[in-house]
Amino acid sequence: MSTCLAAILLTAIASVTAETDFTQYVNVFQGTTGGGNRFPGVVAAPFAMAKLGPDVQSGTTDAYSGYLPSGNIWGFSMMHESGTGGAPKYGVVSQMPVIGNVSNPLADLSQERASADQAKVGYYKASLKTDVVVELAASEHAGLYQYTFPKASTPCVVVDVSHVLPSFRGLGWEQHYSKGNISILPDGHYEGSGTYNNGWNLSPDWNIYFCGKFNQKPSTSKTFKGTGTGTTLASYDTTNSVSGTERLGAVFSFKDTNVTSRVGISYISSVNACQHLDKEIPATTSLQSLVDRARSTWNTRVLSKIQTSSTNATDLQLLYSSLFGMFLIPSNLTGENPGWTSSEPYYSDVFTLWDTHRSHTPLFHILEPVVYEEFIRSLIDIWRHDGFMPDARSSNYNGRVQGGSNADNVLADAYVKGVRGAINWADGFSAMVTDAETTPPNNHDPKAPDSSTKEGRGALPDWIKYGYITPAFTRAVSRAVEYSANDFGLYQVAKGLGKSAEAQKYLERSRNWRNHWNPDCTSNNHSGFVVPRRANGSFIEQDPLSCGGCYWGDAYYEDNPWVYSMNALHDVATLKKYIGGDAKFVDRINKLFDLKIFNAGNEPGFTSPYLYNFVSGMQHMSVKRSRDIGKLYNSGTGGLPGNSDAGAMESNILWQMIGLWPLTGQTTFLILSPWFSQMTIDLGSGKSLKISSTGGNKDTAFYVQSLQVNGKAWDKAWVTWQDVFANGGTMDFVLGPSPANWTTGELPPSLAAGDA
Ligand SMILES: *[C@@H]1O[C@H](CO)[C@@H](O)[C@H](O)[C@H]1NC(C)=O
Ligand SMILES: *[C@@H]1O[C@H](CO)[C@@H](O)[C@H](O)[C@H]1NC(C)=O
Ligand SMILES: *[C@@H]1O[C@H](CO)[C@@H](O)[C@H](O)[C@H]1NC(C)=O
Ligand SMILES: *[C@@H]1O[C@H](CO)[C@@H](O)[C@H](O)[C@H]1NC(C)=O
Ligand SMILES: *[C@@H]1O[C@H](CO)[C@@H](O)[C@H](O)[C@H]1NC(C)=O
Ligand SMILES: *[C@@H]1O[C@H](CO)[C@@H](O)[C@H](O)[C@H]1NC(C)=O
Ligand SMILES: *[C@@H]1O[C@H](CO)[C@@H](O)[C@H](O)[C@H]1NC(C)=O
Ligand SMILES: *[C@@H]1O[C@H](CO)[C@@H](O)[C@H](O)[C@H]1NC(C)=O
Repeated sequence: MSTCLAAILLTAIASVTAETDFTQYVNVFQGTTGGGNRFPGVVAAPFAMAKLGPDVQSGTTDAYSGYLPSGNIWGFSMMHESGTGGAPKYGVVSQMPVIGNVSNPLADLSQERASADQAKVGYYKASLKTDVVVELAASEHAGLYQYTFPKASTPCVVVDVSHVLPSFRGLGWEQHYSKGNISILPDGHYEGSGTYNNGWNLSPDWNIYFCGKFNQKPSTSKTFKGTGTGTTLASYDTTNSVSGTERLGAVFSFKDTNVTSRVGISYISSVNACQHLDKEIPATTSLQSLVDRARSTWNTRVLSKIQTSSTNATDLQLLYSSLFGMFLIPSNLTGENPGWTSSEPYYSDVFTLWDTHRSHTPLFHILEPVVYEEFIRSLIDIWRHDGFMPDARSSNYNGRVQGGSNADNVLADAYVKGVRGAINWADGFSAMVTDAETTPPNNHDPKAPDSSTKEGRGALPDWIKYGYITPAFTRAVSRAVEYSANDFGLYQVAKGLGKSAEAQKYLERSRNWRNHWNPDCTSNNHSGFVVPRRANGSFIEQDPLSCGGCYWGDAYYEDNPWVYSMNALHDVATLKKYIGGDAKFVDRINKLFDLKIFNAGNEPGFTSPYLYNFVSGMQHMSVKRSRDIGKLYNSGTGGLPGNSDAGAMESNILWQMIGLWPLTGQTTFLILSPWFSQMTIDLGSGKSLKISSTGGNKDTAFYVQSLQVNGKAWDKAWVTWQDVFANGGTMDFVLGPSPANWTTGELPPSLAAGDA
């Protein structure tokens, strides 16, 4: 081989393997307004513990992720959650740059912005009215703040341990600062911890430890302690170490106007916080090198997993912004678990499996199989040590539960799709049995005092005694529908483990949604809805268009009987029969749209638009709904049709682009219509799913004319995990402008049907 040819070959290989920078398509501000609650700050790697960003005040608006587009910045803090609701969580380990000697560090030090914040993957920049520019970058457990103060100013950094995101909604879910401490060491660095409680999961006191270092020895450093927020002078402490329940912190001033501040965090100790800092962001680290590392990590670990032939920037921005938004939480806290020591992985900041189990966790599994297996192990380890798997978890504490115990659905989904690895499935099933058999202690939640909102299934006593849930329990009907799906999950795993008696028991229990079905309840030419039911067996009169307040104390949570009556997804054949056959079933799905009941921004209805696939020849209607839902999304700040809900909303649009919809707990994927002429999904271990389409146009010619799966003609409106994901596969679509009657084959399975 001539050296010349070798050089050409090397160039060719380099151009193939050179990483495409998919972060160029990510708008980190996607879904940050209009109730999306996405976090736009720095998350250096998927699932990183450190989430560094601004905390903004704007009247009495809750800043769930810390960020709001307008308002004053009152600190930059190390911990946030993305896409949560209820009330803000975290916003702790903060600091605030201030010019001049700070006479009262307890006063309002917030600053207006000089211009809109700028950010990209791994980088955040805020320009304050004081002419201080703040640039942020991070690693997994540490952050770097690069401050550029105006020339000839006296640069100051205030570390306020009492800083925590407030809530103004009056729901009783606001966070509180409980106590703290901080010590300034002789070399100028500082260490300490803060203790906080409450938030949306009603957690008791939890601690976070920090370790902060600067690029220069501070010219002055003073601790402070005091109460209130007024303009009265705070007393600076004469010692280098303060602790207590008062507000406290430290103020540092510097000579050089370029100040670099590095902070490590840990749930375990300030020693660990310093170790994280020194290991991940050693003193000489440049901001740019952290930004480069974050970009490369996101490209390699997440963004490159889905590649398309598209050159349409609008579509690529939506694809990659959504993909990025899916993996900001949960947080991988392995090695950072303050609750117990274990060789198992540990993940927290789960918000909430109630939101994510339909479309997020099945895509999480496909795109991040290694993390997903660790996540499942962590759910089981939480059960080992805390007694129950979480439906949601934050600051290392379970809560809150909105409906069923949806970890059961998630475990079942993993089990039926062959996730094994290091998972102890005997324990996994035991954890599910705990949900199904052990009533969790009542945590006396004022919003729902009847039973636990912390974990497990609070309404289990009725479920076991009656096979339905009476109004003695709040959210009785929506919980019953979800408990049915949870029990179906137990059936699936029991069957797989060869536990036939348990399998039979839970299969029967999974049909209990039928006990809430009142065939005589009518609405808009339809009869038969799930309704509240008394202990004596009689149904309670119910308008299917109403869910009362749709909240914690009502019979249905966040959606009405029309929606919950479509959610027996493991028993659709029975549902169709109850509703009155194929034509009525199709009309009922149509009515969800015609009567404007369907809300694309709320998870309980996520699957309803695609249930047309359970009727021969009607798959085109699912495609039409899919395209209509797609129009509600974009990559802009208001581009999510509802709260991100920890990426649930983003996962939904990604499935529309792929052209499939998962049925969690089953191996079934309903077929929709792909957006792109080519898409490759990297399944890991060298496997991939390649989806192609010809003759189509995303907006005008999207109806399926024909399909080949793995090279064979396909007449079913569904595929299984085994068909296209287990070993990879191909799906080749022909699309066109009008519907074609191609789904003439076998209907998707209804595994719990029978014995109706
Ligand atoms: C700030 O305090 C330092 C130390 O007490 C003092 O030297 C300096 O003049 C003060 N600067 C201003 C702007 O007040
Ligand atoms: C600071 O608070 C933490 C958590 O309460 C505690 O473990 C630690 O001992 C305290 N340190 C000092 C110096 O008071
Ligand atoms: C201070 O930071 C600015 C902005 O990053 C940079 O342009 C300037 O060179 C720095 N000055 C010094 C003295 O390092
Ligand atoms: C790119 O996609 C957007 C949104 O899907 C569409 O409106 C636009 O027409 C497309 N642009 C081109 C050049 O095809
Ligand atoms: C989770 O975090 C631990 C500790 O940092 C790390 O060893 C592990 O590889 C992480 N898991 C994944 C899947 O990245
Ligand atoms: C109900 O059915 C009647 C008779 O078929 C029809 O006239 C009416 O429009 C229907 N109403 C709705 C809401 O579908
Ligand atoms: C059940 O209780 C309701 C309300 O007390 C009552 O109206 C109804 O007649 C009872 N039905 C039966 C079958 O006892
Ligand atoms: C689709 O084709 C099947 C089989 O040829 C036929 O039975 C069915 O009626 C057709 N459905 C529609 C909606 O045209």
